[in-house]
Parts: sequence; structure tokens; C-alpha cells
Amino acid sequence: MQEEKSPLELQRIRAPIEVPPLLQDLSCTTFIPAEQLSCHQDIQESFSHLPSKHVLRARQGEKHVHDQVRLGVFFSGGPAPGGHNVLAGLFDGLQKLARNSVLFGFLHGPEGLCKASYRELTAQEIDSYRNTGGFDLLGTGRTKIETKAQMQLALHTCEQLALDGLIIVGGDDSNTNAAVLASFFAEKASKTKVIGIPKTIDGDLKNAFVPLSFGFDTACRTYAEMIGNICKDAKSAGVHTHFIKLMGRSASHVTLECALATRPNYVLIAEEVKEKKQSLASIVKDLADFVVRRSALGKNYAVILVPEGLIEFIPEISILIKELNSLLAHSEPSSAFEIIAQLTPLSRQCFVSLSELTQKQLLLRRDPHGNVQVSLIETEKLLAELVSKELEQRRRNGEFEAAFIYRTHFLGYEGRTGFPSILDATYCYALGLTACSLVTLEYSGYMAFVSNLHLPIDEWQMGAVPFACLLHMEERKGAQKPVIQKALVACTQPSFLYLMEQRPLWALEDRYRYPGPMQFSTVLGSKDSVPHSLLIDVCN
Ligand code: FBP
Repeated sequence: MQEEKSPLELQRIRAPIEVPPLLQDLSCTTFIPAEQLSCHQDIQESFSHLPSKHVLRARQGEKHVHDQVRLGVFFSGGPAPGGHNVLAGLFDGLQKLARNSVLFGFLHGPEGLCKASYRELTAQEIDSYRNTGGFDLLGTGRTKIETKAQMQLALHTCEQLALDGLIIVGGDDSNTNAAVLASFFAEKASKTKVIGIPKTIDGDLKNAFVPLSFGFDTACRTYAEMIGNICKDAKSAGVHTHFIKLMGRSASHVTLECALATRPNYVLIAEEVKEKKQSLASIVKDLADFVVRRSALGKNYAVILVPEGLIEFIPEISILIKELNSLLAHSEPSSAFEIIAQLTPLSRQCFVSLSELTQKQLLLRRDPHGNVQVSLIETEKLLAELVSKELEQRRRNGEFEAAFIYRTHFLGYEGRTGFPSILDATYCYALGLTACSLVTLEYSGYMAFVSNLHLPIDEWQMGAVPFACLLHMEERKGAQKPVIQKALVACTQPSFLYLMEQRPLWALEDRYRYPGPMQFSTVLGSKDSVPHSLLIDVCN
């Protein structure tokens, strides 16, 4: 008979998962109010039904027993490696805390909750998905639960299934949704408690308590392997300049991490571009100067990393995007001409200066949360073409002679579903157990966290941070809305400062580093078990 699963898949599925001591006997895990927090006045008023005062921290406590517990869970947003281990943690936690408990998985994200499309997860299913990547056991979706009618449908499903708890596995927008639902359920005196889990390969859902969103580590390791290979190819062939765009939405965390892992020749960080108010023309000029300098050393090849969100941070394009977002929030344009006519003069000038392809991509439909879909904008091609034009001009002026041959790449979807790294696999299982414990103890309106990930597992800490303290007001679809703030790369964070220091060396001397394929024998707490950026930031 043909074996359906690959040898590695079988090995990973059967691999045991380490558990932090505090979660080993979940019936003795309790939470105590710890650090006091503050929250914006207007948020506190709008979310008065949610907790907003203290972080909760897990401790060993008195044994507690429970009757049957009924939980629902769904994935929301883009896939991220480790999601199936969150389900495994929830499932195993329930079995330990209260036998005969049930875990319902809603299908295809938030829509599954509203449409009551779900299935009861079995031990056999969970067992065959342990340590595997993707979200394919349940599927995922980006539907935003925002209207009262949708919230009512969600509540109705939870009531029909008599759910004690609902776990929402998602990024900043999905956890904002979780906060809104938690508040609505509390207002309606529903017994269903809502807990969020920080997921996203983008790494932009983190704060003083959440060190990392799950999936980031695996995605970066996957991209870093590919970038290392491209560096090797660039050096071998000696004639190509590679522009590699990396997924990650607005924030440049993925690009920063991949740069630290591979040491390419040129790294753009979107947040730095914003801080330095660099225009598109100046970015292109700097890139062309860099190509010329390398060429003078006989190196007509290079590897350049471009964060997916760069386009949104270039000052003139950022203003243009804001205007487009407001215009597109109210109606679909019938043509680019119609849109151009409504732009302010400066944005109009910026829009018409872009290639037709970029113009089209900037007008594509926004996601359900009103975000421009940066993964669909081919910034790597835009930059490569503009640099090529600039070098052509310099060639005509007699300032540059060499050939400039470029190749463009986009590393994105392939990083979202790989087998989770040891860190993501273990972290996600611990997140599942923590969330299970929180809802069973009737906490609602919190995001679960596991911190100290850079230390041996015995020193990991578990807890929960109130949603209300993570929310702030932001413009979405032309109106002010409460949302969980995206954590961007700070130009003062140690890992960025380290990059700044190293970049000039990487530009001219080739100091490529080749991470190779991800290893599953890593020891947690060792220095290669966590992302470089996390380690540099926590140790400095
Ligand atoms: P989440 O924020 O939902 O985790 O999504 C991550 C992401 O992979 C971004 O990096 C990317 O810009 C976006 O999803 C792509 O969206 P889609 O899957 O809809 O193409």
C-alpha cells in the first residue's frame, strides 16, 4: 500500500512535545493578578465589560476539578506554522482537566462561527496533525465580525453548542475581533468566555508580555534557507542582482530577522525609510550608488532584501495610500482616471509617476479590515525596474559601464505552512494548554501568552494580558476604530541597531551566512533555538 505521509511528516507527528513544568498538571494551574496596567479612557468606556486592570500570571495552586467543558476554536487570517499544536494543546488540556469535554473546530475562520459550520475534533484527528504546518484541519478565513447581526449569529452558535469558551487564533485584527466579541458576549451575560492566541508570521503582534507571535520563527527560518541559497547562487554566477521581497505586511520584522540570519548585501527596513523620510527617488538613487560601488570592486552581483510593507512607508506613497483607502472604502472605482481625479495634487503627481502595474496593484480591493494588500504589490519589481532605469541614465552619462542584470523574487506563502520549528511547535502547544486553563477557570477578554522563550523551557512563564489594554484608536475604512496596535520595528531596538552597524560591511565584503534547512533537533534555550532578533533584543 502506498504511504500517504512522507517519512519526515511521520517522524514529526510522532515526536514528543516538551511541556513547561507549570502546565504539566493543568488541574493545579491557577492565575493570579500581577502587574497593574493602564488603558485609554475612551477604550475603557467602550469596553467597560472587559477586564482592564491586571496582567494574569500562571502559578501552581490548589487542585481544581471540572465537569464537562465545551470549547470552540477557529483560525483567523493567514496560516502560520504551529496552529495544529494549539489545537492539540487545547484538546489534551481538556482531556486532563475534565473528561468527556468537547472541542469544536469552526471551519474556515470567523465565518464558520457565524454560519455554525463546525465539527467536533476527535483524538484520532488531533493525533494525525500534531507538529504539522498549515491550518488545513479547520481551514481559515478573513471575515471580520463587525455588525451587530454577525455578533448575534456568533452568540447564537455559542449558545446552541453551550460553549464555555471560545478560542480565537489570529493576528492583530483577529484579536481586535476577539476583543469586540468578548465584550459583546459579556454585555449579553453569555457564559461563553473568549480568549485570543497571538498568531502571525509577520511578528507584529507582540508587546511587553507577548514576546513573539507564533509562526514567525518557522517562516523566517524557511525564508532564510532560500535567501542563503540565493546568496550562494549570486556569488556562483556572479552576474545577477537579486531583489527579494519578503512577506510580513507593514512591519519589517521578517526582513530584519532574515537579514540577521543570512547577511545579504543590502537590507531595506520600511520603518527606517519612514523615519528618515526617504522618498522613492532617494531609495532608488542609494540602491544605484550601491550597485556602482560593488561594480567598481568587480562584483556585478548582489542580494537585496525588500520588506513587503516598504511601499506603505515611503512618505509620498503613504499619503497616497491613505487617500486611496478612504476613497476605496466607500465605492469601487470604475477606472484609474476616476480615482486620479479625486486625489489631492501631490498624491495625483505621485500616482501618475508610478508604473501602470504598480498603479493597478495599489487600487486592488482592500482586505476585510480595510488594509491595502501589500502582498499583491510587486515592490521588488518596481525597485528593480527603477534602479535599472537610473543605471541606464548613468550609462548614457558615461558614469557606469557594467551590465546590470536583475532577478526578482517574492518569498511569502511558502513560509506560512511549513512544519513548525521546535520553538513554534512547543510554544503553540503551551499556548493551547494556557488558553484551555484560562477559559476553564472562567477568564474572558484576554490574550494568552507564553514568555521567556529564549530560556530553557523550565523558565517559560505563562499568563494573559487584557485585550482592553492592547487597544487604541486608529483610522480604518475612513473612520476611527479601536484596534490592537501593530508592533513595528523600532529604530532604537538593539537588533535594528546591530543591523545598522553591520550593513556597511555586508554591502561591499560578501559576508553571506547560509542557514540551510531547519533542524528539528534544536535544544530549547540554546542560542539557535529562537530568532536572532529576539535574542539580541532581550539580551541588550
Ligand atoms: P495575518 O496577519 O493574518 O497572519 O496574515 C499574514 C500575511 O501572510 C501577511 O504577511 C500578508 O501580507 C497577508 O497575510 C497575505 O494575505 P492573504 O493570505 O489574504 O493573501
